[in-house]
Amino acid sequence: MANSVELANPNLADMSSDFLYHLAINVPNTKDTSELQKQFGDVRVICVGGTASRMRELAIYLGKTLNIPNSAEPVDLCKQGNRYAVFKVGPVLCASHGVGSSTFSVVLHELLKLVKYAKCQDPIFIRIGTCGGVGVPPGTVVVTKDAYNGLLNNEHEIFILGERVVRPAHFHKDVMLAIVACGQQSDGFDTINANTMSTDCFYEGQGRIDGAVCHYNNEQKMQFLQRAHAKGIRNIEMEATMMASLTLQAKVKAADICVTIVNRLNGDQVCGDSEGKVPLSLEQKKNFEHRPFLIVGRYLQKLLSN
Ligand code: URA
Repeated sequence: MANSVELANPNLADMSSDFLYHLAINVPNTKDTSELQKQFGDVRVICVGGTASRMRELAIYLGKTLNIPNSAEPVDLCKQGNRYAVFKVGPVLCASHGVGSSTFSVVLHELLKLVKYAKCQDPIFIRIGTCGGVGVPPGTVVVTKDAYNGLLNNEHEIFILGERVVRPAHFHKDVMLAIVACGQQSDGFDTINANTMSTDCFYEGQGRIDGAVCHYNNEQKMQFLQRAHAKGIRNIEMEATMMASLTLQAKVKAADICVTIVNRLNGDQVCGDSEGKVPLSLEQKKNFEHRPFLIVGRYLQKLLSN
């Protein structure tokens, strides 16, 4: 039986109205959300990713793949908020979240409240992103099992009311396995499940030596990456621990699927013009970014046909 979202915040029951500020969505009466239910009540999947343009592309791609009428030119429903973009194609929302957990957590709280107010049934949150690989070739698609923080611990750390709070950080096993199963040998790239390291800093936090500041050497960096590899970590990004933890707290299913755009055991620079020094051209990167679209498209075809 399908279930509505119950959030772990008793204060919400005492609020007569709510304003999802960054989404610019008004909930004038929390006891009668029929207008929101009309607009969003059919949503079953919320795809999230870094940029508005990539999420728009995803919305167009999913519109075609899922045969959703009038989906060729999706409009940003949250343009007024001037922060995040949200597109709707049939039962799928595609929302941007910016770079890193801090910007993502803001929109994730509000999207969770949106699906609660709209009375969506068993919504699934899926992050689609890019990442650095650890010992896998660029272009590999990684679906996260356990999310590790920058201390290489499988947990999410957050400071609340002046205290350090540590929460579990793993993704929904069945959803993860179902998404991995959508990879096919004929794709020409691997889709794997593995652990993910998630950091608050792209440079020092991920052991890069090409940031503005660096007080360690290449050997120390490689030792760190090898320690990560030994924990089953095959990719590094900046959102997984927060996403896993917050969706677990909210008791909604979630998954994180990212394509690697560099193998960090071979270098730090992602892509650019190159002269052969950087492994990936901008065009290849764009091409790689579509790989998770393909996998998620197949997953949604199956999910939504049930
Ligand atoms: N995103 C990251 O966080 N790290 C990378 O190396 C590439 C993309």
